[in-house]
Amino acid sequence: MTKAWMIDELAHAGPEHLDAAFVAGFDRKQGYPDPAPDLAAFREHGVGRASTVVDLGAGTGRLTLAAAPHVGRVVAVDVSPAMLALLRERAAKAGLANVECVQAGFLSYEHAGPPADAVYTRNALHQLPDFWKALALERIAKLLRPGGVLRLRDLIFDFPPDEAEAVLDDWLDDAAADPSRGYTREDFAEHLRTEFSTFRWLLEPMLTAAGFTIVTASFERSVYGAYTCVKA
Ligand SMILES: C[S@@+](CC[C@H](N)C(=O)[O-])C[C@H]1O[C@@H](n2cnc3c(N)ncnc32)[C@H](O)[C@@H]1O
Repeated sequence: MTKAWMIDELAHAGPEHLDAAFVAGFDRKQGYPDPAPDLAAFREHGVGRASTVVDLGAGTGRLTLAAAPHVGRVVAVDVSPAMLALLRERAAKAGLANVECVQAGFLSYEHAGPPADAVYTRNALHQLPDFWKALALERIAKLLRPGGVLRLRDLIFDFPPDEAEAVLDDWLDDAAADPSRGYTREDFAEHLRTEFSTFRWLLEPMLTAAGFTIVTASFERSVYGAYTCVKA
């Protein structure tokens, strides 16, 4: 899409994700969560040796690198050159010849080759305001084959607006103290001020409008959502 009203995805990527020093410490800060439940969700939906997986907002490649030994092709897509540089280096070091890195965003990635069997995206869709999330989800549906699976994880709010203060205060109270080992109170506050996490009750109709059936949805702390969806 090359319209004058098109959002600049790089400008919305989160400045820290473009900073090589932040990227170098990213996995430690993330705590590098276990990809096993995500890979299991893929397997349950038929993703195997011949499958193509697209990892959107792949970052340093937590899911890409874990999935690559089990599937045919992984396309790791990210707007950040710094993230992709580290991911490329890691894929090469691990001898994963089936990983392709593409610098693009949710709204600009053009999928080439057979339709994807699975799309993964974790903690990246919230970089886009809701209007753009809806367009991004529709683009994701288009690059998947019918029956293909979307595994979506993000900071998504599972509470009504009048509970926001209590839930979010509680969340911030449990933030990490050491910024090198986790997201701090200030990181979470900045997320709330400058990024676009949305409510569950807004996101789910967007998934449905894009043509997805929600198969599972689970939440931690009413803040961290994980969805498995299938394209009808
Ligand atoms: C918090 S990181 C998550 C990385 C990885 N998915 C993970 O779970 O470790 C968010 C990633 O999304 C990327 N990103 C931000 N906006 C994006 C967009 N519009 N399209 C694609 N990637 C984007 C950032 O560059 C960053 O690598």
